[in-house]
Amino acid sequence: MSDRKKVTLRTLFNKAAKGEPISWLTCYDYPTASFQEQAGIDMILVGDSLGMTMLGYDGTLPVTMDDMIRHTQAVRRGAPTAFLVGDMPYMSYQPSTESAIRSAGRFMAEASCDAIKLEGGGEMAHRIKAIKEVGIPVVGHLGLTPQSVAALGGFRVQGRGAQQAKKIIDDAKSLEEAGAFAILLEMVPDRVCKIITERAENCLILSLGSGPNAHGQLLIYHDMFGLYPNFTPRMAKVFGNAGEVILKGLEDYVSEVKDKTFPQRENWFAMKDEEYDELMKLID
Ligand code: KIV
Repeated sequence: MSDRKKVTLRTLFNKAAKGEPISWLTCYDYPTASFQEQAGIDMILVGDSLGMTMLGYDGTLPVTMDDMIRHTQAVRRGAPTAFLVGDMPYMSYQPSTESAIRSAGRFMAEASCDAIKLEGGGEMAHRIKAIKEVGIPVVGHLGLTPQSVAALGGFRVQGRGAQQAKKIIDDAKSLEEAGAFAILLEMVPDRVCKIITERAENCLILSLGSGPNAHGQLLIYHDMFGLYPNFTPRMAKVFGNAGEVILKGLEDYVSEVKDKTFPQRENWFAMKDEEYDELMKLID
């Protein structure tokens, strides 16, 4: 258990003011959260990417609020001091302002989140404003927004053309003006990210595959450790291939059970001879 003080909005803004980059990772379960807490991660995102990384769906759309709450509660138990962001799943905020406030409130009340994140540009500004007005900090999400992947034409870089880049820059300003304290830019060209960061007045800009000129960086935990079997995006750095280690261990287990080299003496529990003798008498 770490003895650091709770990471708050003030901690994050102080870091940014000192030019210290903020570290942010996705996380979906208790043991991983404990490791991330021990490593001193600043922020954790319980992303609706858990639909793919944990539940095996092809995308994020089937993820429900109940899925999100269950995983977020587990992460909070493992990471009591990290700044915890709950990701609003598909259709938990799009239908109405009321649905948005209620879903955001569940993350705060049931899973002890510090903030919520939602996807979308200027069209979501009024949702952000309404959630902020009830006292819940909001992170916006621009660029590649996986809940709209069909409309965006697949998992691809957003804002390569000047017109589209201008729209992302304008959207970032709208979200900031609506009250988002942070904006995640996913797969946006580095120079667009730099412009948005330089123009941000009271808003932290966080990059996922959008280059170094942001207040902090986000990575998907499963991509960092080779834990998602279907693909690893180009922007992800693999910091260690835990997936390979786990697969090798599983293959060794299967083969040791088969050839009877597992279990060994240290892997089971014995009974004293006198107890065994008495047992034999009892069952004879
Ligand atoms: O769900 C998630 O993990 C996300 C990231 C892709 C940013 O929203």
